[in-house]
Amino acid sequence: MDSRISARALSQALGGWRTREPAYEALADGIRLLCLDNRLAPRTTLPAERELALTLGLSRSTVAAAYRSLRDTGHIASTRGSGSVTLPLRRRDPGRTDPHEGMIDLQQASPPAWPGLAGTIAEVAGGAAALVSRVGYDVLGRIELRTAIAEHYRDRGIPTSPGEVLVTTGAQSAIHLIASVLLGRGDRVLIETPTYPHAADALRRAGARLVGVPVTTSDGWDLDRAEQAFARTLPVLAYLMPDFQNPTGRSMSALERATIHRAGERAGSVLVLDETTAELDIDRGPVPRGFDDGDPAAVIRLGSLGKTVWGGLRVGWIRADADLIRRLVAARPAHDLGTPEFEQAVATALLADSERIVAQRSTLLREGRDALTAALATELPAWSVPVARGGVSLWIELDAALSSALVMDVRSRGVLLSAGPRFSVDGGHDRHLRIPFTATPGELRRAASLLAQSWHDVRAGAPVSFVEQVDALV
Ligand SMILES: Cc1ncc(COP(=O)(O)O)c(C=O)c1O
Repeated sequence: MDSRISARALSQALGGWRTREPAYEALADGIRLLCLDNRLAPRTTLPAERELALTLGLSRSTVAAAYRSLRDTGHIASTRGSGSVTLPLRRRDPGRTDPHEGMIDLQQASPPAWPGLAGTIAEVAGGAAALVSRVGYDVLGRIELRTAIAEHYRDRGIPTSPGEVLVTTGAQSAIHLIASVLLGRGDRVLIETPTYPHAADALRRAGARLVGVPVTTSDGWDLDRAEQAFARTLPVLAYLMPDFQNPTGRSMSALERATIHRAGERAGSVLVLDETTAELDIDRGPVPRGFDDGDPAAVIRLGSLGKTVWGGLRVGWIRADADLIRRLVAARPAHDLGTPEFEQAVATALLADSERIVAQRSTLLREGRDALTAALATELPAWSVPVARGGVSLWIELDAALSSALVMDVRSRGVLLSAGPRFSVDGGHDRHLRIPFTATPGELRRAASLLAQSWHDVRAGAPVSFVEQVDALV
């Protein structure tokens, strides 16, 4: 079924789009970026020109010119009667299997596979004859793997039995499953902003109304806002990343954990703690405990091997109270019949090696973080680059709110990035850019140099009043 986007929703998604002259090209670029980010799915009907013009405070001819420009570049098609509809993105070179070949892809923060992975896979493949004699997938997870995951929690001081663990196909499917079981249409969900966008998408699709609580690289979680949001909206659940939050890289202090835990308990909310990034500890500092006292049914933890080992290994898990695990298992087959046993066997073997894996990750991410931080300090000294103690990315504050324009420009120079607003829950973050440091140091240095060239051009092309106004805010 085709969908449509209202003028108000499009205006919100566009954020501060007016980043260059002429205005119609800036508007067209804003819509192009939404298509590239998949925030505007193919076959979405755009608002009528008159309606969008009214909402954005533009003349109708400006919107008409923007739509014409989008037609010329193959991003939309317009037909009399059914309006303007976004098109699937065209391959630049249809002969190429990977449309991003030769580009530095910093859209996803995917570290390369752990070097020992190929060896582990080969070892597990040695037992393939026994494996293929069984069904090969299951909806709950093999007992060997659930036991290994439970032990992993016990080592962290969180007593866990295998009956409290469900193996999923990556953390993303865990988020989706939890949302589909616990949420109904219109339910409130508290979520950090900025956040991991695919979680926000999954929660919205389950019908949630998201309530954003700000997290900044300098001050962490806004506890006043969090307490107010819990008390006023009584969210059914809160989706949080307490350790090395994606994208800010911040970890909650003991006080932040305790305050949020208490506020969640008072509101009767279930706290969903996404710990996919929790072990990506670069500086290996002390990790505060939290969320492990009180009602165990009110805290769900989820994890994955996607960042610590390899994104291609689709193994994640949910740790929750045994009753909820049973409810999740009952609901799961509607969209997923289980995790492949081969991958589960690989994951079981890997968990036995987790200390070595985490140490290697830490070294790899440190190299990336240090290379990127140093390159940005040289190339773009006006940007405010935080100290990231862990995680996969830097959440950078730019010296002008031109994130989307920058991302469009640098794309044409061979660097793929997502603009700040992609990580926002309620609009904004035009001053921010997420740069993952999961690529090689060489690629990161090259990306920083191309970003500097782009930034020079984008700032120079922005309306004077815009840049001055922005500078006045700094
Ligand atoms: C915070 C967070 N949660 C979940 C995921 C999805 O993980 P998986 O690849 O295991 O589905 C990611 C991946 O980027 C992530 O950053």
